[in-house]
Amino acid sequence: MSSAGAVFACPSFAQTASKPQVLKASVADVQLLPEGYGQTSIWGYEGSTPGPEIRVVKGARVQRTLLNEVPDPTSVHWHGIRIDNAMDGVSGLTQAAVKTGDTFEYDFVAPDAGTFWYHAHNRSYEQVARGLSGPLIVEEPEAIDIDREEVLVLDDWLINPETSQIDSDFEAGGDKSHGGRIGNYITTNGKYNLTLSARKNERYRLRLINASNARILPLQLEGFDGWIVALDGMPLTTPKPVTETIVLAPAQRIDLIVDVTAEVGETAHVQRLDRSDVASQVAFDVKSSAATSKRGTPKPLTPNETPTVDLSSAKPFVLKMEGGAMSGLRSATLGGVKRSMGEIVEAGQFWAFNGAADGMDGPPLAELSQGEHARIMIKNETSFAHAMHLHGMHFNEVNPDGTLGLLRDTTLVERGEEREIAFVADNPGKWLFHCHMLAHAASGMTTRILVS
Ligand code: C2O
Ligand code: CU
Repeated sequence: MSSAGAVFACPSFAQTASKPQVLKASVADVQLLPEGYGQTSIWGYEGSTPGPEIRVVKGARVQRTLLNEVPDPTSVHWHGIRIDNAMDGVSGLTQAAVKTGDTFEYDFVAPDAGTFWYHAHNRSYEQVARGLSGPLIVEEPEAIDIDREEVLVLDDWLINPETSQIDSDFEAGGDKSHGGRIGNYITTNGKYNLTLSARKNERYRLRLINASNARILPLQLEGFDGWIVALDGMPLTTPKPVTETIVLAPAQRIDLIVDVTAEVGETAHVQRLDRSDVASQVAFDVKSSAATSKRGTPKPLTPNETPTVDLSSAKPFVLKMEGGAMSGLRSATLGGVKRSMGEIVEAGQFWAFNGAADGMDGPPLAELSQGEHARIMIKNETSFAHAMHLHGMHFNEVNPDGTLGLLRDTTLVERGEEREIAFVADNPGKWLFHCHMLAHAASGMTTRILVS
């Protein structure tokens, strides 16, 4: 998954091809676990997990024919793309799930340069956990001053090491009601302990994608000087030096520019913090030294054209998150009827948004007219962190001082935390707003925002 140098492929071939490429979802056996363990049966795109990298230049068209060969209806969501609603890939909302043996044509324009990803959006808590996800990279038209780029898809798997097979208890109530499905093997690009080679003083762009069902990844750099240049595909106005732990919640992306500072013969790392332990997530063996010396702070990436929110005129909404284990939630509505927590759990739900536990079929959080500005105060009154993702539009986090903060599509709201977000509803359609801990999304933490 590396592309050499700063010269990037021309998109016009893919663009003008009359027959779109097939993206086949199927069952495959792959070596996910370290050598010595058996292969794992996964569901992947084109026989692999992550699926093939889809790479276009900003403004280009993406066309793929999904062919479903997994034994369950499926659909593909293009996470973070400000897309036409009909192409958003949400089964049961923007399209019917594609049955086994059937196809669906996806055809959309990628308006923003940045690091995105695609994944199954029908029963995602199972289908993503089985491997149905892949990177979607949209390049800036201009060259970036780097020597190499690496797309790093980090994924957390729950696998029985005795059989090497994926744990198939996707409905586990303990996962739904706690932090979601947390695994025991964290791979990068489908490999355990991925090792790459590097040269001292070289500058790389690392595109990190957290494809995990629920695991929040605290990451550190060792043997690199680094800067964050983009979050969730959107460039920062000023590159931010990496001085502390970077937190990558499920579905979030971070673009880093890093300079190799480790000496020849040493190893640089992207490290992962596991409680108090530090583990290598990706190792870079420094084999030689590049002629170039250090280049200093990188230039910011060119911003994408996004609308600016006017907070003073934005319509206010509140999203109160309740439920889950250790919450004390006693009742919520289901289908508009008040139910006890026992009845809600019996119906497979554990969480409530503004008192309703229905999920996608519940009342929409907001109904907006196209062009309206909106702000949502997310109040996390549960005992767990949640990574809230809005489809179709990016939003700004609102800083505590009332100014506009980071532009993102997924925001991590810690337990007990309040986080306000604001956006311009410039994209008409039915958009999901849900927790990206996928077992949570399937048990109450999903709502819709309607833009007409
Ligand atoms: Cu990344 Cu509704 O999804
Ligand atoms: Cu959640």
